[in-house]
Amino acid sequence: MCEVRADMKLKRIACACLAALFAAVSPALSAGTPPSEIAVNTRNFKLELVVDEFGSLLQKGFGPREAKFPPVSENSAKTREFDFYPAYGNGYLDEPAIQITHADGNVSTQLVVEKVDRSTDSDGNELVAFSMKDAVYDTKVELFVKAFPELDIFQMWTKISNAEEGPVTLYRYASASPLFCEKENWLTQFHGGWANEMNMSEEKLTRGVKVLDSKMGVRAHKCRNPMYILSLGGPARENSGTVFIATLMWPGAFNFTFDFVVQQRLRTVNGINHFGAQYVLDSGESLETPKMLYACSSAGTGRASRNLHAWGRLYGMRDAQAPRPVLLNNWEATYFNFDEAKLDRIFDLAKPLGIDVFLLDDGWFGNRHARNSDKSGLGDWEVSKAKLPNGLGRLCRQAADRGFGFGIWLEPEMVNPRSQLYEEHPDWVITVPRREIIPSRFQMILDNTRPQVRDFEWGVFEKILRPNPICYVKWDANRHVNQPGSLYLPARKQTNLTVDYNNNLLAMMRRFASEFPKVGAMLCAGGGGRVDYASLANFTSFWASDNTDPVHRVRIQWGYSYGYPSNAISAHVTNMGRRPLRFAINVALGCAFGIDMDLSKLSAADMEALRDAVQLYKNTVRPLTSRADLYRLESPYAGARSAVAHVLPDKSAAIVFAYQLADGGRAPLKIDGLDAEKKYRVEEISLPAGAVSKMQAHGKTFTGRELAAGAAVPPCEKFCDSSVILLSEVK
Ligand code: GLA
Repeated sequence: MCEVRADMKLKRIACACLAALFAAVSPALSAGTPPSEIAVNTRNFKLELVVDEFGSLLQKGFGPREAKFPPVSENSAKTREFDFYPAYGNGYLDEPAIQITHADGNVSTQLVVEKVDRSTDSDGNELVAFSMKDAVYDTKVELFVKAFPELDIFQMWTKISNAEEGPVTLYRYASASPLFCEKENWLTQFHGGWANEMNMSEEKLTRGVKVLDSKMGVRAHKCRNPMYILSLGGPARENSGTVFIATLMWPGAFNFTFDFVVQQRLRTVNGINHFGAQYVLDSGESLETPKMLYACSSAGTGRASRNLHAWGRLYGMRDAQAPRPVLLNNWEATYFNFDEAKLDRIFDLAKPLGIDVFLLDDGWFGNRHARNSDKSGLGDWEVSKAKLPNGLGRLCRQAADRGFGFGIWLEPEMVNPRSQLYEEHPDWVITVPRREIIPSRFQMILDNTRPQVRDFEWGVFEKILRPNPICYVKWDANRHVNQPGSLYLPARKQTNLTVDYNNNLLAMMRRFASEFPKVGAMLCAGGGGRVDYASLANFTSFWASDNTDPVHRVRIQWGYSYGYPSNAISAHVTNMGRRPLRFAINVALGCAFGIDMDLSKLSAADMEALRDAVQLYKNTVRPLTSRADLYRLESPYAGARSAVAHVLPDKSAAIVFAYQLADGGRAPLKIDGLDAEKKYRVEEISLPAGAVSKMQAHGKTFTGRELAAGAAVPPCEKFCDSSVILLSEVK
């Protein structure tokens, strides 16, 4: 193999040497051909790539269409620092995107482009596929860039195929690794933990490597959502500045590495977390990496989020246009403590509320080991004879008789050691042999790399959903991987476990969505422990957090709003935090609305308030929020009040939510997103029965310009005051 040098003389020798090497394999592009530029564009952004004379794929820049990127260094053939998908071991010294140990033990890789294909789908989205091969080994890497032109969204991923004689090991296998060429880069992450999801914190990146990751394998998003905001040139702002909201479509562990190598060169490497997960590919096998999404905006995070929401509604969630059903859930109302009589009573009380679906949560199954707490019964998907002697069919009928559907909680991926399933199949769980088991929430994860486990898990859906007219499923997952071993996979493939697990899981989610297309579905994992667009594509909404205290929910829902449309975010009115009911209602109304309260303990006035809220949501709020553009107006991190506006794309109507999070004086609210010239009638809605709005602007008409300047002053002063304002165009 010839050594590639930077000076021109040696470069020419290298060209000739490589040209001879590739002549046989690459009729389309071979070393020695002049560099060719390849641009992948959206309406306002561009990704500029170059295939150089050695066949290397280099990146010139990724940014706004008008940006001028610094030239790719002459030295790049030696340092490889401008490689678009840098490989470890042959010159490159920074954070690599791919690291392969080949079948003969060679630890280096050098990728050469053989072919570039461009195609456009029926929606007008362009796919550019770069087929690359190692210069001397038969391992192939296909790199895909898909551009969604109108949304300024890029999607990037790869497929790595082993065509060598023996197994290769992938130590790194990122989905994408674009460079950013600004002097200053600001990074926002969404971190937290159980019941404390989506805290935002921003920092200026300094030289060196910064990593945002999860190593939790399954429900890996518990401590951090696989999403970040990169803002170029200064902190992220809502309505100005170049920002990228980036997210990995993957339910498992992820790794986002930011290597600020030198000024104007920030290498980002995004993908599955390779930590403890080196992937062995046998000869003939391949691995497709998950898709990384980049929503780009030169008008701040507001536009990037709106574009991401639009993308999500098109490609990232089920039935985005269909109204989200109003759920009555019984988790916080009863926990595991219910029976037929109690449910009958709840059904009777629920009837006048006008809910769409009653969702029966955890605790309805298990006989030999009753599911009366989280300690036992998980995995034994037989209806509890003690609690529900007449089965699920009766509950479905009882619900239907009262005018609503019946939904059910499932956690097919998990098992309690105290269960019949575990007694019969102790080898079906993820665990490391010769170590004491460390359970979490008293449960273990079923190892779905084993075909019998996959059959069993699918069988849960078949046996529960086929015989019963169940119209909704809450699909939960309540633990992560802390002992990552498979009793099924061979010794040399143990570290394939979590990648295979998540791919098998996604396959089951897709099968569920395709075989039960009419069954609504909530994605849940101990609250918001698993929220990503690969999973969500098979669900109608996700459970954002087990923290339903509306004061905390304002901040949590705000965080999710950067990536996910509001009708994907399930939000229930509960008693958590003992906040005023009106505040809890108004916080839940901004998302996919539901209720989880013990109805028998509510006063007649509270029941009336809930009934009115359900009607308001169905008739007024839902039709608007399910297709409106979201404008974040006031951040819960910034002041005493938080506010958002949902504005219809044609600007003919909007709904505004304002929440007071600390005592403070009334202040004008500047409402973005309206048409400055249009006139809007202002109406405060979601008021207690018989109450009159205390907002001066109520009932009056203002132009969009006046409302943007603060013509409406929500009557919010005290902690937990709230206001919902409907704006309707007056012609
Ligand atoms: C998880 C979910 C909750 C509830 C419980 C049931 O914690 O997030 O909403 O379903 O499981 O065990």
